Amino acid sequence: MKIKKDKNKLFVPDTVTIPYIEGDGVGAEITPVTQRIVNEAIIRAYNGKRAIEWKEVYAGEKAFKITGSWLPDETIDAFREYVAGIKGPLTTPVGEGIRSLNVALRQILDLYVCLRPVRWFKGVASPLKEPQKVNMVIFRENTEDIYAGIEWRQGTPEAKKFLRFLTEEMGVSKIRFPETSSFGVKPVSREGSERLIRSAIEYALANRLPDVTLVHKGNIMKFTEGGFKLWGYALAEREFPDTAFTMTQYEKIKKEKGEDEATKALAEARAAGKVTVNDVIADAFLQNTLLAPEKYSVIATLNLNGDYISDQLAAMVGGIGIAPGANINYVSGHAVFEATHGTAPDIAGKNIANPSSLLLSSVMMLEYIGWNEAANLITAAMEQAFVSGQATGDLARFMPDGKSLGTAQFGELVINLIKSL
Ligand code: NAI
Repeated sequence: MKIKKDKNKLFVPDTVTIPYIEGDGVGAEITPVTQRIVNEAIIRAYNGKRAIEWKEVYAGEKAFKITGSWLPDETIDAFREYVAGIKGPLTTPVGEGIRSLNVALRQILDLYVCLRPVRWFKGVASPLKEPQKVNMVIFRENTEDIYAGIEWRQGTPEAKKFLRFLTEEMGVSKIRFPETSSFGVKPVSREGSERLIRSAIEYALANRLPDVTLVHKGNIMKFTEGGFKLWGYALAEREFPDTAFTMTQYEKIKKEKGEDEATKALAEARAAGKVTVNDVIADAFLQNTLLAPEKYSVIATLNLNGDYISDQLAAMVGGIGIAPGANINYVSGHAVFEATHGTAPDIAGKNIANPSSLLLSSVMMLEYIGWNEAANLITAAMEQAFVSGQATGDLARFMPDGKSLGTAQFGELVINLIKSL
């Protein structure tokens, strides 16, 4: 049975078909373990009233071997038809005309949000003194920015033509070494920024989170990153007049009535459960995440900043083996939940890969379809496993009395813990 999206609501049948891509390399190990745990959590939470019917679709090396195509149309069709799906890591084909399968999936389904929740699990080693203060959700814009791939290599006729256009038609004279420059274009639109920031504010409201922070480099890139900030504030004031309070409103009150009145208005807005929309320059943000991570809850940012931020925050709570993610279009409902790491060819087939990234992504998926009870069981079981020092080797080796488990054994432990909850 299929999920249906109507206006702002997902309709999820009790027996729901979820397409999945097993993934290459360690995908063959972490995907079956994840599915077994998810099935167990659903049985435990709903006593047989709800279930997932897993539908395998192919992408990556496995797809190429079976179908001759790295990304068969049927796979895209399945993700489109069944709305939500999950994928393991994929080998990036070399010289196949596709830059990356992940990028292709994102573009075809227009999955404009890259969603990365970042929290710390007690017991997991962290470089921070107080990792329990880290609890953020990153909304990274997924379709624009310098990642649009509009680039010309130095010395090519295209680069020369672009240089001529810049100098002769646009009057640009600031390029330091024009003849040896490559060029890239950074498109950032109002529409693209607005849909990303709208999703972040709606998420904060739905999850009762206090702030949305717009992270940008608008001090330098005034019209692209600066635009992102201004469009974000304007959107918050226009579309969320009763549920959001912005720092531009704060500044206006401060100017007209003084700082005390502005501080009072902010406190009242918070007390009324409004989301505070503020902004911070990206470099300051990266510092602050280390010095005062508790200041942030929902982050909305552009594509390149989001890339750096996601990895730094993941490293702060235990690294890529445990960082979940999803690519989502909140308008169409389409969502692909994924392991954020790669295929880890160096450890594939050894039963040592950590399934936590994919497992936590499936927790995100369960939350997305409203099956929170099953999601909570998995999270609680993982918390217990890590507190007791039991984890796969990548995490256990940094735990004081860590006990290293294989991928399958870690899966069994989580299943037994779910049964005992
Ligand atoms: P990688 O993420 O596969 O590996 C980096 C390091 O992290 C390795 O030391 C690996 O052993 C370790 N690691 C990764 N996942 C782990 C897990 N679950 N448990 C324990 N340790 C883990 O990145 P790499 O080596 O750069 O890429 C390998 C392949 O994966 C390439 O073909 C690349 O294009 C692809 N890739 C795919 C991604 C995706 O499908 N989302 C993302 C990143 C890379």
